[in-house]
Amino acid sequence: MDAQAKTRILLDRRKPAHALEQPFYTDPDIYALDMENIFHREWLFVTPACALPKTGSYVTYQLGAYRVMIVRGADGTIRAFHNTCRHRGSVLCKGAKGQVAKLVCPYHQWTYELDGRLLWARDMGPDFDASKHGLKAVHCRVLSGLVYICLAEDAPDFDTFAQMAQPYLDVHDLSDAKVAFQSTIIENGNWKLVWENNRECYHCGGNHPSLCRTYPEDPSVTFIPATGEIPPKLKTHFDRLEGAGIPSTYRVDPAGQYRVARMPLLDGAESYTMNGKIAVQKRLGRVPFLDAGTLLKFHYPTTWNHFLPDHSITFRVTPISPTETEVQTTWLVHKDAVEGVDYDLKNLTHVWEETNDEDRRVVEDNQQGILSPAYEPGPYSEIQETGVIGFVDWYAQTMTERLNPTRMAAE
Ligand code: FES
Ligand SMILES: [Fe+2]
Repeated sequence: MDAQAKTRILLDRRKPAHALEQPFYTDPDIYALDMENIFHREWLFVTPACALPKTGSYVTYQLGAYRVMIVRGADGTIRAFHNTCRHRGSVLCKGAKGQVAKLVCPYHQWTYELDGRLLWARDMGPDFDASKHGLKAVHCRVLSGLVYICLAEDAPDFDTFAQMAQPYLDVHDLSDAKVAFQSTIIENGNWKLVWENNRECYHCGGNHPSLCRTYPEDPSVTFIPATGEIPPKLKTHFDRLEGAGIPSTYRVDPAGQYRVARMPLLDGAESYTMNGKIAVQKRLGRVPFLDAGTLLKFHYPTTWNHFLPDHSITFRVTPISPTETEVQTTWLVHKDAVEGVDYDLKNLTHVWEETNDEDRRVVEDNQQGILSPAYEPGPYSEIQETGVIGFVDWYAQTMTERLNPTRMAAE
């Protein structure tokens, strides 16, 4: 039986509101189908735009065999290209990030403009047409300071998401941001386990002492029930902020792929610090209240984010193998904030550095347990794990549609 047929059977017999069967977290064939049907087709958050501050700034990104470079051009536009030379295919940019005047291939020095045009190629003869050998573009969109790419030939709609998220994001002025710190960790777990863990706080009390100083683990505060009915305390919070012109109300895409909501922190808390006070005195964004909570945005399959009244944090999820996932965290502060004056870097990063490491541990423990032949999918808590149910439903629905295109069209 081929991998698609095998996966279709597993999807069809999935028990609702239960963890997935073992192969979804371990099988190289299903991992390859995840890559092909989700990661190679969806919009993927790759970097905050402020990580590319100058003309010629670039960051590189690798997803499976794909290598992409994201470059700021002389016109200020951020573009994405396949990081493979149009001569004999060498990787062009080998570093994770940097700044260049032109994109020069290290092999035979074919030289490309920052907008991807081939400028110079030595001794290619009179019939060589440089205009036919520019870098291959990758779809690229910048939304309120967040750079997304899509590897598909035909990218799916981005505008519906952008229209929902932009008013929420614009308040945070990410165009005025700089990168204060970036951490990249590998979690030895399947990418879906990283997401499942992210989408619940059932584990927070037992695992996140630093985060729990400011982040409420009470699901009636942090989650909206499946009915969509907003709890009264949360409604008061949303109304207060919306009244001050700060988009905050919970909004979710009908398919469950993305969501925005400005959720409260514990009473009196302002930011993710050990004492609950803001970490950066020169604040990033225009949120008028220090107790406005955190704008939580998730967008499957690659990003969740926290936007606070003083700083913002982006998270990027990149699968490496069936049982390895990279999580990159970037702390953004106002570009004029001075380390040691306006903020202390340790104070700024402490809570999420700890939390990421704690999450890495629980995800790895989860993966190890699932590898046992005795593993059997258990039930999710309908009180605490509605977010996980939402993620797994989105995953299963997306895969079912894409592995059964004719059946879905007929229904
Ligand atoms: S492979 Fe790039 S110049 Fe030859
Ligand atoms: Fe966690």
